Amino acid sequence: MNIVILTGAGISAESGIKTFRDNGGLWENHRVEEVASPEGFKANPDLVYRFYNDRRRQLLAPELKPNDGHEAIAHLINTLSSKENMTIQLITQNVDNLHERAGAKDVWHMHGELMKMRCQETGEVFESLESFDATTPCPCCQQQGNLRPHIVWFGEHPFYLDKAFSLLALCDLFISIGTSGHVYPAAQFVSMTPDDCHRIEVNLEGTPVSHNFNEHITGAAGVVLPKLVQRILKDIP
Ligand code: OAD
Repeated sequence: MNIVILTGAGISAESGIKTFRDNGGLWENHRVEEVASPEGFKANPDLVYRFYNDRRRQLLAPELKPNDGHEAIAHLINTLSSKENMTIQLITQNVDNLHERAGAKDVWHMHGELMKMRCQETGEVFESLESFDATTPCPCCQQQGNLRPHIVWFGEHPFYLDKAFSLLALCDLFISIGTSGHVYPAAQFVSMTPDDCHRIEVNLEGTPVSHNFNEHITGAAGVVLPKLVQRILKDIP
């Protein structure tokens, strides 16, 4: 059996990270084009560096923790991944590290990671626990101004799409959690699963792609997922 889980901003909402579309098109009070596009970075790099440094600091704050939804997914993955004839893969659109902090390994971050930076010259990726900006020398080329957040911005290609497509093509159970169904290609993942795949959507409300799922579970991820995971584990011998 092959299971694919897709998560979006909704899974981290109960941990205190704001979702995108609940905010009137603003991301933490900024227009997304300002802070999440190559054009925005070119126009005002200082603002963009500051924005991601703030997001990183928020993520590292001691009170910000994985919630019961992240814990439930990690439990499902860790319980099932050692079973024979079973694969379970987690693809996230989130740039936070809350899945990993809950114990999930090998998370496919299709929109990048807040705790990483990338050299624009060589493409090399580095962990970045600290703030960085245009004055920070790049660890590989030693040049200032070459580092950028390792985040997929609007107009850029998401990471790991080939991997995602090949996982979806063989998927028997697809669970989509806390994602609005507005941003492609993630919104079309559900329609890339085989006809006999069972598809479950978990969200506070219906989405533009809800009709493609066999089951829609309405509720907060932190409340709904522990029960859903128990049910799945009961159903799988
Ligand atoms: P959105 O902010 O678009 O949508 C969040 C979804 O989560 C909505 O459908 C909410 O109803 C749902 N939701 C909110 N709280 C929830 C909860 N506690 N439990 C369950 N569901 C909840 O976020 P995404 O769909 O992840 O891209 O957005 C996709 C991408 O658009 C993001 O990765 C980001 C953004 O632009 C980039 O940064 C490249």
